[in-house]
Amino acid sequence: MSQDHLVTASRAATELVDESAVDVEAPRAIDEVVVLDFGGQYSQLIARRVRECGVFSELLPHHVDLEEIRRRRPKGLILSGGPASVYAENAPRLDRRLLELGIPVLGICYGMQLIVRELGGRVEAAEVGEFGRSNLTVREQGRLLAGTPEEQTCWMSHRDTVFAPPPGFTALASSTASPVAALESVEQGIYGIQFHPEVVHTPYGQQILTTFLEDICGCALEWSAESIVEEQLERIRAQVGDGRVICGLSGGVDSSVAALLVHRAVGDQLTCVFVDHGLMRKNEGDQVISAFRDHFKVPLVAVDAEERFLAKLRGVTDPEAKRKAIGAEFIRVFEEEAAKLSGARFLVQGTLYSDVIESGGGTGAATIKSHHNVGGLPDDLEFELVEPLRALFKDEVRAVGAELGLPERLVWRQPFPGPGLAIRVVGGEATKARLDVLRDADAILQDEIRQAGLYRELWQSFCVLPDVRTVGVQGDERTYGYVVVIRAVTSDDAMTADWARLPYDLLEQIASRMINELREVNRVVLDITSKPPGTIEWE
Ligand code: XMP
Repeated sequence: MSQDHLVTASRAATELVDESAVDVEAPRAIDEVVVLDFGGQYSQLIARRVRECGVFSELLPHHVDLEEIRRRRPKGLILSGGPASVYAENAPRLDRRLLELGIPVLGICYGMQLIVRELGGRVEAAEVGEFGRSNLTVREQGRLLAGTPEEQTCWMSHRDTVFAPPPGFTALASSTASPVAALESVEQGIYGIQFHPEVVHTPYGQQILTTFLEDICGCALEWSAESIVEEQLERIRAQVGDGRVICGLSGGVDSSVAALLVHRAVGDQLTCVFVDHGLMRKNEGDQVISAFRDHFKVPLVAVDAEERFLAKLRGVTDPEAKRKAIGAEFIRVFEEEAAKLSGARFLVQGTLYSDVIESGGGTGAATIKSHHNVGGLPDDLEFELVEPLRALFKDEVRAVGAELGLPERLVWRQPFPGPGLAIRVVGGEATKARLDVLRDADAILQDEIRQAGLYRELWQSFCVLPDVRTVGVQGDERTYGYVVVIRAVTSDDAMTADWARLPYDLLEQIASRMINELREVNRVVLDITSKPPGTIEWE
């Protein structure tokens, strides 16, 4: 790998954190390809797919300063799709200089249309758009489509269409509605595809991306869980030196992986604080304690604060008030524990790359993840943040967790809200008795879902306990018991979700176990609302 391509992923990551931490540069060289975001629905997914191919990639806004791109010394550039027509008045434009950086450029959908327009080809609004599955006919494989079949399926989403490539370009393929669906100019190092290689409905998409990254850009496919770990260990050591570090463990995969990385890097300089607020799922607190204290030998302060939290929840029925009460108490407990650990200067946060993108990050602002732990920690805590996951997508975090030996149960744990079961006792007070019923019902649900092999397929599966009792009959007796709601959804990012079509037999098994094993429950219902219009949680 040439020296002038000494682009480090850690550098990219450190630039995103708080300015005081920027002087940390790890020596390891990892090739990078930049994705410029023109507002497409799948832009983030492109960066994820590039990483899956083994090349580090970050998503930058299309109007980013050219110097910012140059400074990263990427080995290639990808222009994403976008919702606009290239002719729309406020459509994002292409800075011609992007094509003159001396690195290969791949335009996808809108990205390709921008290139065609800029370089003198013909792109026009077509009578009919092309949305969804389409058939691609490859007339010439060229470099970009090398090794892919003459006829293949691809996924399209566009109205403007390329009718003629710019001078010096070869049209490689067409589709039902696109006379030019792929093109290239090897001489100029510019490539374009109308279809979306990043979605699973384009079966050769990943292969085409790999060809671009490896054969065209000359990237080494080295980005992996192992390389991330190596990279981050060096970075953490450089940032923390011999300072003391504190980490709030929630039991979720993000804080667990962040804590393990820091522990691997600086050993017992790290102390984890696990606040058990009594609102966790069944046995979860014990699992966290046994994994960290017993297995990984991480110094861990476990605080059993159930009583304190229940006291704060007494009489509280409004969901936002519950969240606030829990958040405030969490901070109080955490601060008390932190004060006992004199000299801790650093605080570990499990901030992910998606949080950084969502908060418009990358400007150096050290935003604290608002959903982290319970209510988020206040920003007047006087710590310097250590954020080893700041450049990573969720699936990479899981891969790193597995690489570090985190138990499978923790690696694959479904997302769980910081305020825990309290916001799933709906319409009423989260009392110990209700929380226990909900916890037991939830344990049955998880158990059955795991046994059916469906746990990983679901974004979340959980129970809700409304403050409602209904009449039933069990044995010869009339009962008046709780209704348990089953909520199971599939999703990619929690922004949208679909209700999971769990098999009827499984649902029956779950319902009958709940009613037989839990005295207080006499009815089980299934929530079949998608998001939107519903949210995933009930409150
Ligand atoms: P909704 O219910 O808004 O949830 O569709 C989207 C995702 O966010 C999680 N969630 C929370 N996480 N604190 C958290 O840490 C909260 O107060 C909270 N509320 C919702 C929810 O579980 C889902 O994954």
